Amino acid sequence: MRGPEDAARAGTAVDDPATTGAEPLDEALPDVDGLEAEAAEVLPDHVVGYFRGPTGAYGIATDADRWSQVRFRPHVLRDTSGLGLATTVLGTPVASPVLVAPMAQQRAAHPDGEVATARAVGRRGTLLGVSSNTGVRFADIDAVGAPWWFQVYVMDDREATAELVTRAAQAGARALVLTVDTPGVDPRRPRFEPRSWPERYGMQVNIPGGEDGRRVFRGTRDLSVRDIGWLRELTGLPVVVKGVLRGDDARACVDAGAVGVVVSTHGGRCLNQTVRSADALPEVVAAVGDQAEVYVDSGLRTPEHVAAALCLGARAVFLGRPVLWALATGGDRRVEQLLEGFETQLERVLRSLGVNALAELGPDLVV
Ligand SMILES: Cc1cc2nc3c(=O)[nH]c(=O)nc-3n(C[C@H](O)[C@H](O)[C@H](O)COP(=O)(O)O)c2cc1C
Repeated sequence: MRGPEDAARAGTAVDDPATTGAEPLDEALPDVDGLEAEAAEVLPDHVVGYFRGPTGAYGIATDADRWSQVRFRPHVLRDTSGLGLATTVLGTPVASPVLVAPMAQQRAAHPDGEVATARAVGRRGTLLGVSSNTGVRFADIDAVGAPWWFQVYVMDDREATAELVTRAAQAGARALVLTVDTPGVDPRRPRFEPRSWPERYGMQVNIPGGEDGRRVFRGTRDLSVRDIGWLRELTGLPVVVKGVLRGDDARACVDAGAVGVVVSTHGGRCLNQTVRSADALPEVVAAVGDQAEVYVDSGLRTPEHVAAALCLGARAVFLGRPVLWALATGGDRRVEQLLEGFETQLERVLRSLGVNALAELGPDLVV
């Protein structure tokens, strides 16, 4: 038998696949920091500032840090040969539980914006969220063929909101994602400042009268759980509530008819000093039980982060900024690569946890 000394003598490391016979990794680890640095080189500063949002003590670092603090308790000596990543979200089959979060103004990252994102998502067989503040027409996104959920900001102008949501439903959105964590916007968050932009990237092209900036989202102050029913009745679509960080709120959403909740700090872009998504997820999962699907986003930067989220009870996760950085640096191909990297490496991590199916993931596997 060959030992470490033999390997050293032969000039190879013991964990070198050539030495151990282990399968070489066919996909590199997704390098989100590298993508961000590259994107910062190619994008105008004001776009980078807007995409990053507040960073540092009250920003995104803390969400990512919390995911990194989760520790795995892996099983060994388990058959993992049956493991696959395919699952469903609200009944829609997806090839993996790695979805793309709704993010405004993707045309600031790439001229094709959400159409490019949808192409990548379609090729990976997953699903994307489309922001109320997209600069791309719903019909163009839907034409790509990838399943999409429409993210709803309720504007002061309820009539405009109703029209926007109805248009999204008619264009082919499969669910509505009602964002509830934004009664106002943190002044430290770099603004998407239309006046200083060379163009407005067609902001709100789907809202009648939106192009001239009259009907814009400035935060919602009169939201209630009744709005879940309002949206459901308006469109017949299932409603997911995004931005929930407490079990009691999640419960109230489900009692009011929501079929899913997204545990989210909005990527650290809203309220400073909240608990982080990783902290809130177990409480929310416990509160809703099997009566709704629970998803999570914010600060997920590695396949281990995603695995931790799945262990803590998320049915699927949403990636945010990593997708924007990929989009900015290489359009749909780069987004596709990013998603593929996450999937391949997620599968490796899950095998290392000793599971043979997504259903085997649970809190027992983490501390
Ligand atoms: C540039 C940008 C724009 C966003 N726009 C929206 C939006 O319009 N609606 C919304 O609900 N969330 C929006 N988000 C939040 C994302 O949906 C998601 O919660 C967050 O980005 C996840 O965190 P991550 O970026 O750390 O992955 C935005 C995020 C970014 C970075």
